[in-house]
Amino acid sequence: MKQKVIVMGFILFIFTAVAAFSNTEFERLDNSVFQNPHRPGAVFDHDNHNEMAEIDDCAVCHHVYEDKILLEDESSEDSPCSECHFQKGTQENSIPLSAAYHKRCKSCHFEANKGPVLCGECHIKQ
Ligand code: HEC
Ligand code: HEC
Ligand code: HEC
Ligand code: HEC
Repeated sequence: MKQKVIVMGFILFIFTAVAAFSNTEFERLDNSVFQNPHRPGAVFDHDNHNEMAEIDDCAVCHHVYEDKILLEDESSEDSPCSECHFQKGTQENSIPLSAAYHKRCKSCHFEANKGPVLCGECHIKQ
């Protein structure tokens, strides 16, 4: 019995360690950065999505700008989108957060003619 508890504890430890290591294992985007979100957080299974959609370049989404000029070969995956995009646009960054997400996600789905484009397909009820 005691041995079983130790084995279970060990398995749990491994799971926690793996979950902490691969921190892109989320299935919905965290919408708590929005004050009073109107919709359920959009579904987005990060690693599976990018594998399925065959996107190798992280900077397709995690880009870096300097003076409004997109820098090639640089990426910002350590920063959440909300670090630069705010709920209301500013002079330094005129693209509000919600527009930034919608433009990035939807324009590719339209172009690829694959992936969801309707509100309820991304903001799926919990
Ligand atoms: C391709 C996926 C996708 C589609 C389609 C989409 N959204 Fe979103 N939307 C997002 C993402 C991603 C965010 C930012 C993270 C989040 O809120 O989950 C967001 C954020 C929002 C927000 C700001 C946060 C909030 O809940 O108040 C609103 C409002 C919103 N969407 C409404 C809509 C409406 C209305 C439509 C249809 C016209 C729509 N979205 C279609 C992905 C999508
Ligand atoms: C299709 C768009 C897209 C691509 C491509 C993409 N990511 Fe992300 N990633 C996101 C979004 C959206 C978030 C959530 C950002 C936020 O919460 O502000 C995110 C979050 C992350 C996070 C933070 C995880 C967390 O739990 O907060 C890491 C790390 C990350 N991505 C790494 C990568 C790496 C490395 C690559 C390339 C191999 C990559 N991403 C490619 C969209 C993308
Ligand atoms: C390090 C800061 C930074 C981060 C992090 C960042 N952006 Fe941006 N983004 C910018 C700047 C600066 C611009 C240009 C704004 C302008 O022209 O006013 C921009 C422009 C955009 C645009 C419009 C141009 C285009 O590429 O279509 C979209 C869409 C966008 N960002 C989406 C996102 C999304 C989604 C995320 C998170 C995955 C993100 N950004 C993370 C700084 C950032
Ligand atoms: C560069 C292109 C591209 C970008 C950017 C992109 N997607 Fe997608 N997405 C795709 C493609 C292609 C598919 C279809 C994959 C397939 O079925 O083969 C897809 C499928 C999906 C699906 C359905 C499959 C699944 O994983 O559940 C969801 C949900 C989705 N995308 C959400 C998003 C959200 C949210 C964003 C923005 C944070 C985003 N996508 C950004 C290309 C993209």
